[in-house]
Amino acid sequence: MRSIDWRDGHIVAIDQTRLPGGLVEIVIDSVEELVIAIQRLAIRGAPALGVAGALGAALAVRADPSRLDHDLATLRAARPTAVNLAWGVDRAIARLGDGPDAVLAEALDVLAEDTEFNQALGLRGADWLAELVDGPVSVQTHCNAGGLACVEWGTALGVVRSLHDRGRLRHVYVDETRPLLQGARLTAWELAHLGVPHTVVADSAGPTVLARGLADAVVVGADRIAANGDVVNKIGTYPLALAAARAGVPFLVAAPESTIDATIPSGDQVEIEVRDGAELLSFCGVRTTPSGTQALNLAFDVTPADLVSAIVTENRLIQPARGERPA
Ligand code: MRU
Repeated sequence: MRSIDWRDGHIVAIDQTRLPGGLVEIVIDSVEELVIAIQRLAIRGAPALGVAGALGAALAVRADPSRLDHDLATLRAARPTAVNLAWGVDRAIARLGDGPDAVLAEALDVLAEDTEFNQALGLRGADWLAELVDGPVSVQTHCNAGGLACVEWGTALGVVRSLHDRGRLRHVYVDETRPLLQGARLTAWELAHLGVPHTVVADSAGPTVLARGLADAVVVGADRIAANGDVVNKIGTYPLALAAARAGVPFLVAAPESTIDATIPSGDQVEIEVRDGAELLSFCGVRTTPSGTQALNLAFDVTPADLVSAIVTENRLIQPARGERPA
């Protein structure tokens, strides 16, 4: 099942806010609806946002031409950290000179490529880990970088799936990923469906899982990778990378080439999305903090390149901790 698709002139997506309780599809007919779906995280995850951006451009060129520039700008900026969103818009709209059908054809190419790229980078990551670790591999992951975050296969979970397929996966430790629980809700849901043994841990337990030697590797996705190899991903990734370095555990980032932003020299120049503090101040709709308390809801953090053992893409393996630069 695809997390995002194009059907009969509409975008159809799984509403990720409803999982794991319900598998509900939403149908999107306008850029306005798409922006809302992206901002409330019904559609989320960098590669899925790339596809959403491209398909959104196809919707935009079919709507009122006087709104085109405004719609494209709003869509590009709907989530500022994941470079794939703007990349998807720009790639599809570059075909505008050839007409709306060409924009749609390009968007459908972005959609079709995603699974192929995920599978290629997943195999590459699994090869690297299988060589590095003796016997079955236990992996720790953060957030959701699975089929839901892409079209249907996954980046970090693409690596996990490849290890599982070849009988080399022992266990996956899943950080719950506060405050919106992408790990506990989405990654655990995907792993359960795949029959992969997994255990959810509190985010604050993640470093201790590594210190105790429970995981042989950390494998995560990325929202943007700077030219120097700094990796921007879900908040909580950086502490895991620090703990992995301390424990001598490899830290692997799995992402398509489209997540590498050659225009950004280093991670400190990436805009970090700050989300509504309400996501932190309440839990399941119940206020858990005193009224009047403020929240700083940083959605992403930057893991410096020297903590990144390797990045696998559909084309290559880069080792930033050894001084290799992605761009
Ligand atoms: O806020 P989210 O859920 O969109 O954050 C997603 C992540 O941080 C993922 O790890 C990243 O997009 C990679 S998905 C393959």
